[in-house]
Amino acid sequence: MNVPELTLLRSTDLYLIDQVLKGRLDGVRRVVDVGAGSGRNLPWFLGRGARVTALDPRPEAFEAMDESLMALGLEASATAGLERVLGRVEDAPLERGSADLVICNAVLHFAADPAEFEAMLRGAWALVAPGGMFFARLASSVGIEGSLVPLGAGRFLLPDESERFLVDARGLEEWPDRLGAERLEPVKTTVVSGLRAMSTWVLRAAGREEALR
Ligand SMILES: C[S@@+](CC[C@H](N)C(=O)[O-])C[C@H]1O[C@@H](n2cnc3c(N)ncnc32)[C@H](O)[C@@H]1O
Repeated sequence: MNVPELTLLRSTDLYLIDQVLKGRLDGVRRVVDVGAGSGRNLPWFLGRGARVTALDPRPEAFEAMDESLMALGLEASATAGLERVLGRVEDAPLERGSADLVICNAVLHFAADPAEFEAMLRGAWALVAPGGMFFARLASSVGIEGSLVPLGAGRFLLPDESERFLVDARGLEEWPDRLGAERLEPVKTTVVSGLRAMSTWVLRAAGREEALR
């Protein structure tokens, strides 16, 4: 990897960088970033000429995105491949099965309750093309069960004083099966000094075997 490529990755989630380094994302041409925020996970894909859709319900997210892409000096030709869509993933604002990579990083734990979580997760999963990949990081209760205050409807007060919808170890294993997803990696969870836990799904949709591996 050359220096300009490394620069484009400098704000990217570490666990997504792991997938880049494993070569799993080399063939990605069409990316949807669900809850893209400031777009920190997008520069590497834009730099490779991928078509990228950034979905977010907050207009401020797109302002921050413009600033961060400009700061990286991404050329107009690269950002021309970027489409910004204002909306919530559970409202199905995008074409189903259209992306060979769906990123859903630090978004699902904003669900208000289990029904909203399921709608968000299914909405994001539905965007994955046959043979495509689904990358999600979400807050979980794994390893911090004893330090959580239940608030009801699957939400908890965490030791870092945030309130989140949390999936437990069982849910992390069961959801991929309910979606009919193949696990490209076992679920991995990072516990931040007993403050919070973030779990990672790296999944693939059944279909075209020659697609991403
Ligand atoms: C913590 S930020 C993460 C941003 C980005 N994914 C990242 O890794 O830096 C969560 C983002 O999810 C967006 N979001 C929250 N609920 C959403 C929903 N129902 N559908 C789509 N995006 C949502 C928020 O507006 C926010 O920009």
